[in-house]
Amino acid sequence: MASIDLFPGQWQPQVVLMAALEVGLIEALLDQPWPPAKVAQKLALDERATVRVISVLVDAGYLEQQGDGVVVAPDARALLDPADAAFVGDRLLHLHDLLVRWVQLPMVLRDGGPAPFERTPESLRAFIGSMRVGARERARPLADRLAALYPATKSVLDVGGGPGTQALAFREHGWQVTVLDFPEVIDLMAGDLARAGIAAIKGDATQGIPAQGFDLVYCGNLFHSMSPAECALVVESAARALTSGGALAIHDFLRGTGLPSSLFAVNMLAATSAGDVYGEEDYRRWCEGAGLRDFAVHEVAGQTQRLLTADKR
Ligand SMILES: C[S@@+](CC[C@H](N)C(=O)[O-])C[C@H]1O[C@@H](n2cnc3c(N)ncnc32)[C@H](O)[C@@H]1O
Repeated sequence: MASIDLFPGQWQPQVVLMAALEVGLIEALLDQPWPPAKVAQKLALDERATVRVISVLVDAGYLEQQGDGVVVAPDARALLDPADAAFVGDRLLHLHDLLVRWVQLPMVLRDGGPAPFERTPESLRAFIGSMRVGARERARPLADRLAALYPATKSVLDVGGGPGTQALAFREHGWQVTVLDFPEVIDLMAGDLARAGIAAIKGDATQGIPAQGFDLVYCGNLFHSMSPAECALVVESAARALTSGGALAIHDFLRGTGLPSSLFAVNMLAATSAGDVYGEEDYRRWCEGAGLRDFAVHEVAGQTQRLLTADKR
């Protein structure tokens, strides 16, 4: 008798919610109840589709009935309001973009990755917003751990620091923080970074890091998007950007650490041409090749990714 659950959980309500977010239905129902047919008209949506989708959103508890209208349920409001710090809409929209790629896995299996996908300004915003949701809970514990490992730290370069969430947690330790990311990502974040006193560099880390003299170079969830040759190059230029006595810290999935890590490797297969989940031996080789010493792997409580460190003497 088979005992594996081939159909764990129900994925459809989440997909319905993603679609409702994408077409603006959730935002339209945040504050004021609307009858389904009227909101369909207001947003120029198909009425038959809107009515059926709204039924699911009500049954799943995302919306609630009020009179002849529907409105976002109080329990879901903070999560679905873009103005609220708890907003997870960008994460759901990004998951939707990932789903578009994941359903093309049979093709990826036949022809190799990545799955075709058109990047738009909206998808970039959802990606960065989703990274912010992901970093919200891990940023402080990671900064605290690094502060404990490297108490003399005064300056840090956050390579691929995109949403700025980790950079803010570094600032809370009184460190001078610089974020390096692609120009279009820095452009999205520039106001937030400047307000927090965080310096920004627009660039591509695989082309070299154009700054030096940092006590700590931190790369959070960056290496999985690059090829092995690019990873080796970035570790080398990170090592050059360090002061002597400084350290490189990498936070990423590690191959062989269970289902989240093997799933993430498939994610990178579907989403990038050469990204991957790398093993401890890969990171050790890149660090030692760049002249860094004392390579170490740390587990951080509650986190699937690992923290890897290596020192420059
Ligand atoms: C998956 S996100 C991680 C964001 C954040 N560091 C974290 O851990 O939550 C990867 C970030 O690295 C940036 N990135 C990827 N490749 C890069 C490169 N070659 N040069 C600079 N930034 C890069 C992306 O734009 C994005 O902001």
